[in-house]
Amino acid sequence: MSVLVTGGAGFIGSHTLISLINAGYEPIVVDNLCNSKKTSLQRVEAIVGKTIKFYENDVCDAAAMDKIFEENKDIDCVIHFAGLKAVGESVAMPIEYYNNNILSTLVLCNAMRKHNVKKIVFSSSATVYGAATEVPLTEDMPTGATNPYGKTKLFIEHILSDIFVSDNDWSIVLLRYFNPIGAHESGTIGEDPKGIPNNLMPYIAQVAVGKLEKLHVFGDDYDTPDGTGVRDYIHVVDLAEGHVKAIDWALKNKGCEAINLGTGNGVSVLELKNAFEAASGVTVPFVIDPRRPGDLGEVYADASKAKNMLGWEAKFDVKRMCEDSWRWQKNNPNGYDE
Ligand code: NAD
Ligand code: UFG
Repeated sequence: MSVLVTGGAGFIGSHTLISLINAGYEPIVVDNLCNSKKTSLQRVEAIVGKTIKFYENDVCDAAAMDKIFEENKDIDCVIHFAGLKAVGESVAMPIEYYNNNILSTLVLCNAMRKHNVKKIVFSSSATVYGAATEVPLTEDMPTGATNPYGKTKLFIEHILSDIFVSDNDWSIVLLRYFNPIGAHESGTIGEDPKGIPNNLMPYIAQVAVGKLEKLHVFGDDYDTPDGTGVRDYIHVVDLAEGHVKAIDWALKNKGCEAINLGTGNGVSVLELKNAFEAASGVTVPFVIDPRRPGDLGEVYADASKAKNMLGWEAKFDVKRMCEDSWRWQKNNPNGYDE
């Protein structure tokens, strides 16, 4: 059975292709490569030993999306990864973020409705919990968003929920990811951020490989055990497996459900740095800087809904996440640029 994967050349999408193929699904990718390279798909093909059907198109392009569904009548469900994802950039470029993330979802859903495909798994984010002060985060907690990127995720959740209200024949899974890190064990695919990384793990990895001088720890005065920010890091392969379980659920059930994908464990900035040093054998120099505006002290998931509803739970620990991130970074110091 075919699954259309928008944004399938990206970090999470490329790992999910492997899990889908291993589970017997046939992914078809549409990606405009605005934040990825075709190389990631070639490397996935090398890992799985199969070719993957690829459309280099913008999901906002209604004619192109119509053609994809027209040419692939066996598409039964969609995983919608395509989107812009940098919080800071979204503050500077709100029009581009709203246009890309919201319009692509509307164009996609319109094409799905036209072709009677009514199962979708959407890449949402823990950012939809806004400035929540209580942890662990459960799916029924109030939502809110503090930047345009987060608002696009929240608005899209509302749009998809309204589609289900209008037609109960849909199956919609809103996956709220916590902090995906790690890489496929082959070390041939991984996260390839443009420019200086915004996120902690790629920053640490680039310090370790000598591309950046030192880690800047954003604040050590939070109300956490060592004062640095605590997050729920999840191995990208576990996250990928969560998508397969979500598709399995969507094929058997109807409804619209928001589900956290996290481990349920909080790990501090310094704990992650220390675990990375242990895994890589490389020292990561650091300085303590002021807090980053908008950051919360502690964010981690209650992951019990995913376990109860999807039969999914994260398997890999922080040590494994660091080992796999390091293997990818060490073997590909410049990401997919040869
Ligand atoms: P990514 O940038 O690596 O992948 C996104 C892919 O979508 C890229 O290949 C990009 O080229 C493509 N794309 C973007 N806009 C498109 C469009 N209009 N048409 C076609 N292709 C388009 O990001 P990722 O880390 O793999 O994230 C995937 C999804 O998960 C995103 O929606 C992101 O917001 C969400 N998410 C990511 C994280 C994270 O920390 N990585 C956390 C929560 C949610
Ligand atoms: N941090 C540093 N130094 C850095 C980068 C990050 O100390 O160079 C700290 C942050 O202050 C935070 C922790 O490391 O305490 C994690 O920061 P990330 O930027 O890696 O992740 P966030 O939890 O801030 O944000 C991520 C995604 C967002 C998403 C959010 C909630 O980047 O897109 O999770 O899902 F909205």
